[in-house]
Amino acid sequence: MHSGLSRSISALNSVATGSKPADLVLHNCSLVNVYTREIVPDTEIAISQGRIAYVGKNASHTKGKQTVIIDLEKKFVTPGFADPHIHLDQFVTPLEFVKKSILCGVTSLFADSIDIASTCGYRGFSEFVKMTSELPVRIFHVIPGGMPVDRKFSHGKTFSISEEKSAMKIPDVIGLGEVFSWTKVTQRDPKTMKTLSAMLERNLVINGHTAGLADKKLNAYVSSGILSCHEPINFDQVLERLRLGMWIMIREGSIRRDLTEIIKFVHSNGVYTDRLMFCSDGLDPIDLTKFGHIDHCVRESVKAGLNQVDAISMASKNCFDYYNMGKDLGGIAPGKLADILVFDDLNKLKPNKVFIGGRLVVSNGSIVSKIKKYTIPKWMTKTIKLKKITENDFLVKSKSDLVNVNVIDMKTEIVTEKSSESLSVYNGNVLASHEKDVWKVAAFDRISGSAKHTVAFLRNFGAEIGAFASTWSFHENDMIVIGSNEKDMAIAANHLAKTQGGMIVVNNGKILSFMPLQMAGIVSTDNFEKVTENFENISQILTDRGCKFKKPHLIPLFLPFLALPSIRILFSGLIDVKTRSFLKVVTG
Ligand SMILES: [Fe+2]
Repeated sequence: MHSGLSRSISALNSVATGSKPADLVLHNCSLVNVYTREIVPDTEIAISQGRIAYVGKNASHTKGKQTVIIDLEKKFVTPGFADPHIHLDQFVTPLEFVKKSILCGVTSLFADSIDIASTCGYRGFSEFVKMTSELPVRIFHVIPGGMPVDRKFSHGKTFSISEEKSAMKIPDVIGLGEVFSWTKVTQRDPKTMKTLSAMLERNLVINGHTAGLADKKLNAYVSSGILSCHEPINFDQVLERLRLGMWIMIREGSIRRDLTEIIKFVHSNGVYTDRLMFCSDGLDPIDLTKFGHIDHCVRESVKAGLNQVDAISMASKNCFDYYNMGKDLGGIAPGKLADILVFDDLNKLKPNKVFIGGRLVVSNGSIVSKIKKYTIPKWMTKTIKLKKITENDFLVKSKSDLVNVNVIDMKTEIVTEKSSESLSVYNGNVLASHEKDVWKVAAFDRISGSAKHTVAFLRNFGAEIGAFASTWSFHENDMIVIGSNEKDMAIAANHLAKTQGGMIVVNNGKILSFMPLQMAGIVSTDNFEKVTENFENISQILTDRGCKFKKPHLIPLFLPFLALPSIRILFSGLIDVKTRSFLKVVTG
C-alpha cells in the first residue's frame, strides 16, 4: 500500500460524534495502550476510511446499517509492529518477505536498500520503491546514505545530489539511510555535508551507524543531525548514545543478535525506554522462519524482564515517534491509521488478526487479502556484466619457487586480520595451500563491466570444496570467488555470469549447490520456500564439508566491506582499511 498519510478530519470527527456511521467497529477488546502503558479492558474501536475515529467504552453511536462489527471476545489489541531499519533488498523479493513478516505482526517496514542502489543506481532504487508500493503493508524508504565508503577503491553506483533531491520528493521516501562511513561526517566531506543539510532543511530523519565512535567524534556525528544508531552491542554503548539525545534501534537479526545482552541491563538499570526500538538490520529466510521478526524481539525482551507493554511500545510507538510520524501511526487512538494487531495470548504473540488501514489482511493467522504481484523489469535481472572468465584470470604470477604473500585471515565470518604466509609456485603460478588452509580469493567488477579484478589469498575457510562464489557483497557488489583451484573457480564464476547472479558451490568441476539471485545479482525471484531450500543447501554443504564458520555466506558478503577493519578485497586491489592503501599480494 502507498504509505500516504492523508486524512479527512471532518469524516473522522463526524464518526466520533455519531453524525456518520463507522465502516468497522471492533467490539470487546482488551486494548494495549502505548500512551499510558496500561491494558484497558472492554474497549470499543470505531474505524472510518482507514483511520480510528473513536476509542472508548461504547461505540454504539458509531454503528450504522453498513457498519461491520467484529466481536473480539476480550482478545488483546495492539498497534502494528514496525521494523525501523531493515535491508529489504536481500534473498527474497519484498512481496515474499512481507508474506511471512506480516504473520509476525509487522505492518510497517523502513527499508534501507543500499545494495539495489549500488548495483542499479537511482533507477533501481526508484523501481524498488514502486515494487513495494502495492504491497499490503506500509513500506517507507530511506535514501542510501554515504555510498560508496571510498570512491578510490569502488565502482559501486551512488546518487548525485540532484538524484538525492528527486528521491526526497518520492512520497514513500522519508529520510536518509544509515550513514555508515562516519569518517565522511567527522572529516566533513563536502558532499556528505550537503546531503545532511538538505535532509535537515526538509525535516527528514537521518539514520546513523556509530560503531567505533566515542566522545569527540560521536559528538561531531550527533551534532550533524544524525540521531539514531543500531550498532550498539552492549548497554554501555546504548547509554552513552542515549545521553547524547540519540535513539537506539536494538538489533536482533541475521547479522547480529544484540537484544538479550542489552535488554537485561535496560531492565535492571530502570532505563527510560521511550527512545529504544527493535530492528532487524536484515533477516535471512531461515531466521525469519525460525525466530520470527519484531514479535520475537518483544517475546525475548519480556523473557529478559522487560514490562510487556513497554516492549510493545518499543515495537510500535517509539519507531513512529522517531520518524516524526507519531500523529499518524504507532498507537490505537482517534485520528491514527488503523494498523491493529489482535492477539489471543500476549505471551505467544502470534497475531490472530491483522488490520492495516482498517482492512483485514490476516485472519486466523493466515493472509486473507489479495496481494498484487509486481513484474520485475527485465533490465533489473540483467546486471552481471562479466565477460567469459578463464582459469588464467585466477593466476597469481611469480618467477620464484616460493613466495611470501599477504593473507586475509578470517577470524569470524566478518572480522579479518592482516597476516602473511609463504606459498609454493608451480609453473609461474602461486598456489593455494590445502595444508595451510590458505585459499585463493578473487574480486571482480561485475557492475560496470570492466575486466578489472584482483586475486589474493585468504586463510581459515576450511571447507573441502573447489570454489564458493557470490555476486552479492555488501554495498560493493563485486563478484567474490573463494577457491582451492583455478578450474573450479572459473566454473563457479562463469555459471554466475551466465545465470545473472547468485551463490554457488563447485567441486571437481561439478556444481554442488546453487542459489539464483536473479534481481540485481542480490535478490532471488523464486518463492520464499524455494529460496529457503537453496540457502539451507548452500550453508549445509559448506558446513558439512568443514567450513569453520556457522554462516559461511557472510564471508563473501563482508570481504569487500571497507567500513570494517582490517584487510579487505575489492576488484581494485587488496586493501589495508586503516591506512586506506593498496597492499601488494606477493610481498617477496
Ligand atoms: Fe544496516
